[in-house]
Amino acid sequence: MKSFQDIVKVFEEVISSRTLEKAVFSRPLDKSVKKTVAKLFKKGNDVLCQIERFTTDNKAHHENIPASDAPARLAEMAMQEYVQSDIFSKDGFCEILVSKKGHIHIADKRTQTKESAPAEIAEHNREKHYILDAEAHAAFLSRLGVSDEKGRVFEKKRSKFKQINRFLELLDDVYDKLPSDGVLTVCDLCCGKSYLTFAVYYYLTEIKKREVTMFGVDLKADVIAYCESVARELDCKGLTFLCGDITAFLPNTRVDLVISLHACDIATDIVLDFAVREKARVLLSTPCCHHEMMRQLKAPSLSFVAKHSMLKQKLCDAATDALRGLKLEANGYIVDMPELIDAEETPKNLMIRAYLSEKVDPAARSLAKKQYLAAAEFLGVTPYLGLMQ
Ligand SMILES: C[S@@+](CC[C@H](N)C(=O)[O-])C[C@H]1O[C@@H](n2cnc3c(N)ncnc32)[C@H](O)[C@@H]1O
Repeated sequence: MKSFQDIVKVFEEVISSRTLEKAVFSRPLDKSVKKTVAKLFKKGNDVLCQIERFTTDNKAHHENIPASDAPARLAEMAMQEYVQSDIFSKDGFCEILVSKKGHIHIADKRTQTKESAPAEIAEHNREKHYILDAEAHAAFLSRLGVSDEKGRVFEKKRSKFKQINRFLELLDDVYDKLPSDGVLTVCDLCCGKSYLTFAVYYYLTEIKKREVTMFGVDLKADVIAYCESVARELDCKGLTFLCGDITAFLPNTRVDLVISLHACDIATDIVLDFAVREKARVLLSTPCCHHEMMRQLKAPSLSFVAKHSMLKQKLCDAATDALRGLKLEANGYIVDMPELIDAEETPKNLMIRAYLSEKVDPAARSLAKKQYLAAAEFLGVTPYLGLMQ
């Protein structure tokens, strides 16, 4: 039988070793609360624990306490306020479940906590680390309803603000793969309300001081008219919004960067095809819902997974994105797939990031092609747009 002290011990271990990445408390007993997230951060010489409670009225409540007080406090929360507490540490994951009757179950998947010096904790100045400075970029952020005129980000838009900043960080990592001079041509396909389009526009023009020709394309006429009016109002030279199907979009110029955030289902494949066809130097695309493979999957040896619909969806999500990665590799791209933002913010948090490399070994391309064809055959699927090349 596990006791309250066992919960305290887990928190003591991850906090004293500084291996705690975050603790997520969910399934609250108080129904006005959504969840609470606790993280360590450094302020000057002190290590503090930030406790961020999210309530159903879409507000976040912050409290910072000394790290030394955190084990008992977090254990009390796990014991008294939540059914489920998930602890993510550098040594692995630990789940604590407390039933309404007070029975405790601890599933500890951590490897042995290392006896070495405590891990470094990041300074707590998250706003400063954001690429977009909310105050400096208040004009477009307030015009799009993300912040007020002074650049104070609205609580309900904090997640969007984080998401576009993270997208910019992932772009910043591969910025050196873009042509270093001249006008950059950028296409945001399925741009929707275009938070991302404007963010990338400001990143390139104001932070990187580049001249750009940028297109935002989407099917929705009213949204495109709105984005176009914002662009003219903010005097965004070189930024144009076009209404139409991305399948038919022809930029008639060399394309350097293709971006896309949450293009639904096969719209992400159309984005990838566009990037390959236009030989875009860099592509950043975060897929949205996946449906195509769910309808097609026919792999008897995977039936033990596919018979559970949730698992089938996860399998199809992963296999679809893996095939997309192989397709890009077969077409000469170097590909990685980092996380966009925390899974707790959105399940659609994978980024397909690729840049064109002249140095790709032809053998690597042909291996990716073979792997694509073999995987598609094994899965019994014919992806909508195929391999290209
Ligand atoms: C989930 S929204 C994402 C919008 C935006 N990128 C964002 O993240 O806020 C998907 C958008 O894709 C657009 N869309 C889907 N298929 C499209 C297509 N074939 N051509 C152009 N736009 C498309 C929809 O109109 C919608 O605005």
